[in-house]
Amino acid sequence: MKKIICNWKMNPNSLDKVNTIIQAILNCGIPVGRSELIILPPTLYISTLQQYQSQLFASLGVQDISDASEGAYTSQISAEMVYNLGLEYALIGHSETRMYQHYSADIVAQKCAQALQHNLIPILCVGYEDNPIKGEVNIDLIKTELTSILSINHSLFQDKHIIIAYEPIWAIGTGIVPSIENIETVSILIKRLFQDTIPHEYNTTVSVVYGGSVNKDNIQSLKTIPAIDGFLIGSASLDIEQIPILLT
Ligand code: PGA
Repeated sequence: MKKIICNWKMNPNSLDKVNTIIQAILNCGIPVGRSELIILPPTLYISTLQQYQSQLFASLGVQDISDASEGAYTSQISAEMVYNLGLEYALIGHSETRMYQHYSADIVAQKCAQALQHNLIPILCVGYEDNPIKGEVNIDLIKTELTSILSINHSLFQDKHIIIAYEPIWAIGTGIVPSIENIETVSILIKRLFQDTIPHEYNTTVSVVYGGSVNKDNIQSLKTIPAIDGFLIGSASLDIEQIPILLT
């Protein structure tokens, strides 16, 4: 069963539209057994989604958390708050946050540590670079990003699940998707890096999802990639025409 992670970003712009998307998901019939639905809405809409959560058969998460645990950090939300609200996931290090909020690799690693410490499942994005070459996959960059995450105290990974989202920045919102072979190679590399670094007895499980221009036209062929456990989907996850195809 593939994970379908809906990254709504800063959309939609009204509660009416949130309700329209909720209705579109409900109209699909329950995706149980077909896909595992995870919705990452803007934080303001969390309580609305929680009202429908059991009907949607969805898990919920936030699009960012603080690298600090509590205190005078105006505008931020902590991993513990998210956990205490009953949410399960935190998206961490999305390219748009690395770019617009200037999150460094160290900050992203700290956010990941916060999520693990407070029992949230991190959905950690890799694939950001300042000067990407369109269509070119920078394997060294992916390794460097992962090495920084793997430099946090390994015991934090004990008995935890982590999702790595492979999202080359040039694939986000552009309609360009890497080749099936490339996505397969990178996901195997990610899983191997974790296996080789985190002690086996820590029982850490790693899923790899692909993100960047996933839509109704390419999802079926992307689903054939064995090493990919699901997808992180932006704009198509807000499109009520595409939702039924993405979820089946
Ligand atoms: P997209 O966005 O599906 O609109 O390309 C994906 C993402 O940024 O997570």
